[in-house]
Amino acid sequence: MKHKLRIALVVMVIIIIIITGILFEELSTMDWSHDYDYDNGFQRKMEEAMGYTKDLDPSLKNMNELKFHLLSKNNNIDKFLSRSKQNTTVMYDTSVERLFKLLESIPEFRFSRKKLRNGNFEDMVLRLSKYSRTQSPFLYDQNLDIGSNNYRQFHQHIRYSVLYDTEDPVIDGLIHDMSSDTITSVEMMEEGTELKLFMKMKKGTEAVFKPMRWGREHETLPNHYYFNDYERHNSEIAAFHLDRILGFYRVPPVTGRLVNMTSEIFRLAGKTLRRTFYVSPIGNLCFFGVCKYYCDSRHSFCGNVDMIEGSLMVWLPDDLEAERRRWKSPYRRSYSKFRKAEWEENEDYCINLLDETSVYKYPRYILDLVDTHIFDFITGNMDRHHSEIFEAAGNDSFLIHMDNGRGFGKANVDEYSIITPLRQCCLIRKSTFIKLAKLYIGPERLSNLLDMSTRKDPLYPVVIQGHLNAVDRRVLHILTLVAECVKGSNSVDDVIIEDGY
Ligand SMILES: *[C@@H]1O[C@H](CO)[C@@H](O)[C@H](O)[C@H]1NC(C)=O
Ligand SMILES: *[C@@H]1O[C@H](CO)[C@@H](O)[C@H](O)[C@H]1NC(C)=O
Ligand SMILES: *[C@@H]1O[C@H](CO)[C@@H](O)[C@H](O)[C@H]1NC(C)=O
Repeated sequence: MKHKLRIALVVMVIIIIIITGILFEELSTMDWSHDYDYDNGFQRKMEEAMGYTKDLDPSLKNMNELKFHLLSKNNNIDKFLSRSKQNTTVMYDTSVERLFKLLESIPEFRFSRKKLRNGNFEDMVLRLSKYSRTQSPFLYDQNLDIGSNNYRQFHQHIRYSVLYDTEDPVIDGLIHDMSSDTITSVEMMEEGTELKLFMKMKKGTEAVFKPMRWGREHETLPNHYYFNDYERHNSEIAAFHLDRILGFYRVPPVTGRLVNMTSEIFRLAGKTLRRTFYVSPIGNLCFFGVCKYYCDSRHSFCGNVDMIEGSLMVWLPDDLEAERRRWKSPYRRSYSKFRKAEWEENEDYCINLLDETSVYKYPRYILDLVDTHIFDFITGNMDRHHSEIFEAAGNDSFLIHMDNGRGFGKANVDEYSIITPLRQCCLIRKSTFIKLAKLYIGPERLSNLLDMSTRKDPLYPVVIQGHLNAVDRRVLHILTLVAECVKGSNSVDDVIIEDGY
């Protein structure tokens, strides 16, 4: 009898220890800071920036109503649409005019202002990108059947010199799928600096979701360093459109999407992600997830009730054929408040680089790098720290442009340091130069093309007027740099390089 009692006692103690352990684990992973954090000025500022703190309207019934509500609060859409085109860039610069005159006087260069003016920008881009889009080899063996949905077809059609052919109907199909197909699974990508969600959809599409952090009008704080700036979902969307307009085809397709946080994230989420959901004092659903740096309740993403905007970028294949190689960009920033990178202090940096017998020797690399920095200068992205290519494509491979979330933060500031590779190397691909020259000569303007292109996105307007003005201004600046380079060189051919891409 006594013996049985003793056993029962021991069993009970063990059970109590186990239960306490579980409870303790549960409690220690719970976030206790919600109550006072909400009063934290930072969180409030962020929500104000997103337009969520005031006049919340839970009476909105359908997606369209809600979308209009969100947009009109975030962007002041009425003000935005009717605003006069203040600060519109005047596409005129005397050094660029002189450069064009010089180019017209060189018959072999085949440059005619009049011809450019009379042509159509889109047709020209299609012509210039024709080899890359239609002739350069495919990454995958086309006889292998890797799947018939738009997502797998997109993978199958990747070429050595471009991610996609803009005329391939699979691309618009893929974008449509990403923006509308039923989301079936959600996983956190915890290794990133900010919260990203890996989503799978019914038809098999896989994509990375970045929720909206800032409203489109929220300007990056002037005292913030680039490396503690936050990503913007609209920058990801706009960058894809910009890359496509410029005929690079180096950014994986992206779409905006308004997502229901309850049914399309919370219900599909694992336990770790679920634990970070909470309801804010004014009744909005918020979450912060798990990641390396900015995943705590002071950096929450809050919905309008439970709807949140975000960007979805298609997932690139990760099998052997599509293996990618990454290396530190030679124009990487120091990522330090106290140190400068070598290229910031040494104007001969590029010349030394070109002499090196390293990866930079692969023939198209420097011209690609200059393209990349032209692209980043136009968006205002200072965060390009790595170069990435498809290993299999070897010398023919372009640089893949991923992670474009840190652009479109300052409408009235042009970050000239981004374009340093062009200034120091004084090299630019001829096709890129011709495209920019055409945007100067017109009648098309990059701002209009970008605005028109993003009209197709469910989250239009993606780029507001101030930033649209900025992209034109930046095109003008790039051309003045080319003019300076040509002026300081012996021959136009030393600066403007025709390499077949
Ligand atoms: C989001 O989904 C939940 C669950 O299906 C639903 O109750 C809620 O009304 C949806 N929100 C909106 C704004 O449609
Ligand atoms: C790539 O280009 C370099 C320099 O032009 C050349 O030496 C090398 O053989 C090329 N590699 C391939 C695989 O074509
Ligand atoms: C126009 O540019 C000036 C100077 O850069 C800036 O202060 C002003 O806010 C801009 N106006 C608009 C409407 O963006």
